[in-house]
Amino acid sequence: MFAVSELLERINSHIAGLQFSRSPQGLYDPITYVLSMGGKRIRPVLMLMAYNLYKDDVARIFDVATGIEVYHNYTLLHDDLMDKADRRRGKETVHKVWGDNAAILSGDAMLVLAYQFMAKCPEEHLKEVMDVFSLTALEICEGQQLDMEFERRKDVKEEEYLEMIRLKTSVLLAASLKIGALLGGASPEDANRLYDFGMNLGVAFQLKDDFLDVYGDPAVFGKNIGGDILCNKKTYMLIKAFEHAADSQRGELDGWVDAESFNPTEKIAAVTNLYNQIGVRKLCEEKMQEYCERAAGSLAAVCVSDEKKAGLKELMESLMHRNV
Ligand code: IPE
Ligand code: IPE
Ligand code: MG
Ligand code: MG
Ligand code: MG
Repeated sequence: MFAVSELLERINSHIAGLQFSRSPQGLYDPITYVLSMGGKRIRPVLMLMAYNLYKDDVARIFDVATGIEVYHNYTLLHDDLMDKADRRRGKETVHKVWGDNAAILSGDAMLVLAYQFMAKCPEEHLKEVMDVFSLTALEICEGQQLDMEFERRKDVKEEEYLEMIRLKTSVLLAASLKIGALLGGASPEDANRLYDFGMNLGVAFQLKDDFLDVYGDPAVFGKNIGGDILCNKKTYMLIKAFEHAADSQRGELDGWVDAESFNPTEKIAAVTNLYNQIGVRKLCEEKMQEYCERAAGSLAAVCVSDEKKAGLKELMESLMHRNV
């Protein structure tokens, strides 16, 4: 079995070796740019780890793992445009450097490239893998649509938020694990248990992402702090803030959420201050913990020795303590 760090190193060097030699350069430069900015690479690593629970020849699925990472990076190009985000992984986002149209078109090309990589899947699993991947890709669009629609609503409920983040984020972690398991020859039951592990892990992961968007250290987070507050994203923290606010606090929160023109720095500071007063930080951390425990339960049901599953458990813990 490989250590997480080893799998990460191997998939990183595989991705670093990719060359997009077609033209025009204007289409491919943003792709090379975003893929060279790194990132945590958790989706391909999860896929390789799931495969490695059953088989050792991990290089056999490097193309499929690359496909998942290229797909993820495509979603980021479009997401940053939709979220008006200027910074990612410590660098300017593609639409900032090359413009909105480049982010759309290079993103489209990346979606096609992702399919090409996925299609390099071992023949006997091709249909099954493509079915999981395509359904997942559609669900992510559904989640992103809900995320946008929620920006304009103030009555989003916790359950709706959880469903939205399952769709926009969890399904890709879940599918990465399931595809890795299927390619490794896992039973359908085990593949689905790993999928469930990914779903629960994904909820905790997005809760942490939302948390870092407010409380992260700007020097290490790599994205602008407060972006979600400026877009009125219905994060768990904003939903809970509305739920637990005293009347005067609710009035102030309403004011910021409804404001059509405002000083961005002031809005971020004021809403963060309300979050602190209302105590949503702790509620968010408790919810994350709850989903980690659910994930641990799903992982425990996978019919593989605890020793082999230890790496996945460790990765989950490290993701919950991450600063990036
Ligand atoms: C960012 O994903 C989008 C979310 C689902 C929160 P990651 O946090 O995995 O981003 P990178 O790839 O490590 O930069
Ligand atoms: C990302 O959610 C979900 C997808 C990219 C599909 P966010 O919008 O919170 O991700 P970041 O914070 O920009 O990475
Ligand atoms: Mg975003
Ligand atoms: Mg988004
Ligand atoms: Mg975010």
